[in-house]
Amino acid sequence: MRFPPIVPGFSQLIHGGDYNPDQWMDMEVWKEDMRIAKAMGINSLSVGIFSWTALEPREGEYSFGWLDTILDMMAAQGMKAMLATPSGARPAWLSQKYPEVLRVSEDGLRNQHGGRHNHCLSSPVYREKVQKINTLLAERYKDHPALGAWHISNEYGGECFCPLCQERFRQWLQRKYDSLDALNHAWWTAFWSHTYTDWSQIEAPSRRGETSVHGQKLDWKRFTTEQFIDFYRAETEPLKRITPNVPCTTNLMGTYPGIDYFALAKALDFASWDNYPQWTGYTKDDVPLAAETAFKHDLMRGVKQRPFFLMESCPSATNWRPYARLHRPGVHILQSLQAVGHGADSVQYFQFRKSRGSSEKLHGAVVDHVGHEHTRVNEEIARLGSMLQGLSGVVGQDTPAKAALLYDWQNAWALNDAQGLNNVDKKYFDTVMDHYRALWSQGVQLDILSEDADLAGYDLVVAPMLYMVREGLGQRLRAFVEAGGTLMSTFGSGYVDENDLCYLGGFPGPLRATLGIWCEEIDVLLPGESNEILYHGQRYRLFDYAEQLHLEGAVSLAEYRKDFYAGKPALTVNALGKGRAYFLAGRLEDGFMRAFYQDLLAEAGIERFELPYGCSLALRGEGEEEYAFLLNFAAEACKVNLSGVDALSGERLEAVELEGHGVRVLKRLKRG
Ligand code: GLA
Ligand code: ZN
Repeated sequence: MRFPPIVPGFSQLIHGGDYNPDQWMDMEVWKEDMRIAKAMGINSLSVGIFSWTALEPREGEYSFGWLDTILDMMAAQGMKAMLATPSGARPAWLSQKYPEVLRVSEDGLRNQHGGRHNHCLSSPVYREKVQKINTLLAERYKDHPALGAWHISNEYGGECFCPLCQERFRQWLQRKYDSLDALNHAWWTAFWSHTYTDWSQIEAPSRRGETSVHGQKLDWKRFTTEQFIDFYRAETEPLKRITPNVPCTTNLMGTYPGIDYFALAKALDFASWDNYPQWTGYTKDDVPLAAETAFKHDLMRGVKQRPFFLMESCPSATNWRPYARLHRPGVHILQSLQAVGHGADSVQYFQFRKSRGSSEKLHGAVVDHVGHEHTRVNEEIARLGSMLQGLSGVVGQDTPAKAALLYDWQNAWALNDAQGLNNVDKKYFDTVMDHYRALWSQGVQLDILSEDADLAGYDLVVAPMLYMVREGLGQRLRAFVEAGGTLMSTFGSGYVDENDLCYLGGFPGPLRATLGIWCEEIDVLLPGESNEILYHGQRYRLFDYAEQLHLEGAVSLAEYRKDFYAGKPALTVNALGKGRAYFLAGRLEDGFMRAFYQDLLAEAGIERFELPYGCSLALRGEGEEEYAFLLNFAAEACKVNLSGVDALSGERLEAVELEGHGVRVLKRLKRG
């Protein structure tokens, strides 16, 4: 299926990035910027992200002239602006006159003015000031031809512990639980004499106070997510009213742990995110990082189940990384087309023109301090620019996925908060990646979904470490399997409900009957320790966890070979209705994961491809409109035995030769 373009009527892939003309305020510089943008094939710039002081230098005194000029210059060359609301950082006069707009840290101290992302989300003054400036921006530019989308604030994140936020937390809890009895039960407060007898006694969990009541900590995280959603709604209220047809987004940060992005994304018109992988180039195997980055793209597509924007990425050195390494030749195009292959309808950068001063002055950019475009980095950006123009048929194309992987923020919150299992690292993300990598390396197209998603239409659901099983999910997974689906489940699943209360009567709680097993105990392996299983006569090592199972209808496919549980099941399958439910009791090495999934995919009838190590395949669209992105993350050249037509050159290829860090986009990919 094909979605309409994110920017209405603009059916090119967006190419551009964050632009801060207000750091220059010089017409000669701006003219050069426009010229260079054109030479790079850039058709969009994100403006105004941290421009509040430039727009309102003193309270109620406005200065829009510079932005008028920039937007006019952009429109003159057919460019689209991602026009930002400036709430990510505030003017000094605002903090000085209204100190309540500043955040309060976990230690209870009011922050000083500095930095950014340093505002209280509850502050009525802050909300009022933001709404005012947003209203003026919307009124002024509502009919401007350059206005493409609204870029709301910047990278929402953090928490505020001020009295206003604490009060809102209590109100939110009252709405959620209605009675204190219900709250006390959900939070299991009889533990350590924590029972509340009045709503006013409740505080935000913090290192100065409560760190042990898991239900409370979980609710605080949910509340923080709600705070951002509520703030986003307040910010966008004037925009939705004045420019109802201009889509709004805020730039997300992949797996950032502080906000449940599945919840926040419901409020967005489209998702966008900022991607800064630290590629090494040659010295280390970048393939696991390539898989991780692919996963994050799929996740960012998953939060809205439709194409997204890559709102920021770095064309060269990311200055805040421990080692601000250059991208090796080809890597910029590779990482950009990886994003597009996984569902991005844009490639955007931080930053267009490099700052001259302050902390981002050495961050990679399109326009370097040298001031012209005759650089190595620009050569690759320009080449990418023309490739993106040639690939405009990709815009709006969906990813044809028959397999889904469940990744869930609330699950991660609860699991990582648990005291028990492995307290150094629960390995949720590692476990998710074990499964993702096995599928990604075989060219399987995957959707990433939350626990609440509709599973209809999928043939395979992979649910690694589903520690928290919320109300209804057990039944939905059961129905999915009964109807013919394949479920892949693992150790660490079915321990707690949505309140972080343990399931009574045997783990994996609501998954027990579906999986046909009872997990009596779980052993935790020490670093460097391993157990072993045999699969198709081959030995594979098992790490980190060893769940102790009893078969209750399932059959064992492999057993532990060491320790006091040698001979006990480590991999099981349960036939249920028309489907099957698998359970893997520990973390297995990659070789097993690959071999096992190869069998599983054949059984579930899901398309897979034979790809050299480090090469991945991302598909968008269907039939004549199918685009196949072949991406080589290895430093060595490789050959892929797939034929098709090069989407850019039209050349017919019987096999695809990829250089190290090379990419090809094919149409009419031949199967079999
Ligand atoms: C983030 C921010 C940008 C910039 C970049 C630098 O993603 O959104 O403003 O600071 O990091 O990499
Ligand atoms: Zn606050």
